[in-house]
Amino acid sequence: MKKIIDALCKTKKLTKEELSAVLDISEEDREYLSQRAREISIAEFGKKIYLRGLIEISSYCKNDCYYCGIRRSNHNAQRYRLTPEEILLCADKGYELGFRTFVLQGGEDIWYSDNVICSVVEGIKSRHEDCAVTLSLGEKSYESYKKYYDSGADRYLLRHETADKAHYSMLHPKEMSLENRKQCLYSLKEIGYQVGCGIMVGSPYQSADTIYKDIEFMKELQPHMIGIGPFIHHKDTPFAKFENGSTRTTLILLSILRIMFPKVLLPATTALGTADPMGREKGILAGANVLMPNLSPVSQRKKYSLYDNKICTGEEAAECRNCLERRINSIGYEVDGGRGDHPDFKRS
Ligand code: 5AD
Ligand code: FES
Repeated sequence: MKKIIDALCKTKKLTKEELSAVLDISEEDREYLSQRAREISIAEFGKKIYLRGLIEISSYCKNDCYYCGIRRSNHNAQRYRLTPEEILLCADKGYELGFRTFVLQGGEDIWYSDNVICSVVEGIKSRHEDCAVTLSLGEKSYESYKKYYDSGADRYLLRHETADKAHYSMLHPKEMSLENRKQCLYSLKEIGYQVGCGIMVGSPYQSADTIYKDIEFMKELQPHMIGIGPFIHHKDTPFAKFENGSTRTTLILLSILRIMFPKVLLPATTALGTADPMGREKGILAGANVLMPNLSPVSQRKKYSLYDNKICTGEEAAECRNCLERRINSIGYEVDGGRGDHPDFKRS
């Protein structure tokens, strides 16, 4: 196994069979894989972790993804949406806490017209010139993405969820397609965004084969960011009875991705912290270099419930910020105070 890992570090390639074997490695070999990935992360970024202030702007969603707690068919979901003023206040508070990237994430909520989104982006950028704005608002038209970019948005996160067509259709209702998902990601790249794709690890019907396709797709897309976290079931979804994804497999995949994409921005996600109380620390030690603490108003937090038992729903922004800094320091890393762009990125 060490030979396969060494070859992976050299060639940045794995065959389907090798991937399958690595996803199934012994604890000793996983430690080795993790160490190699960590060395690469430290060579690129030092022992520094970028923080992103996450603002969950709306729990309304017109989509009906089978895995997601805020899907439109979940009538038990509590819905809220932040006003533009509330979003700006979250960003102001985040700025004071030292954040230099804000991620506006939400369900696909048609209440926010393009004009509203653009004015919020402009508002944040004019109040905090040295900040980056990341959007994570789902599938939109090329024209909408272009408008947001022109109003100042820097980055866009849109997990592709799976690059296998049959698997995609097992996770989503038929009005959604892998083709459109990929097209959105290519449009975002063309426009000039730093783009993030990603998957849930251990989603229902996932296999080494589908993960192989995910990696092939990532090689083609060349994303600036890759978001992965374990699948965690939500009780009010069609996937309520499915097993959760494992922390261990997520850590293995984080390491593989760090080795294959040395400069990619790789978060240790909230889902990883939910699956394992030390998940985010373990994620960093496996090669991740980004954390995304929650800045959403505490009064609404619980309602952005994508999966059961999500952590950090009761803590104020400052508490999350401090908690994460403590966690980062406890493993010998430091918070990086910058915007945290991709090392190769220049906005034209
Ligand atoms: N478990 C883990 N992650 C989830 N997401 C949505 N539902 C779940 C779940 N049940 C992830 C999706 C989506 C991102 C915003 O959250 O990958 O792209
Ligand atoms: Fe939110 Fe620890 S990061 S409480």
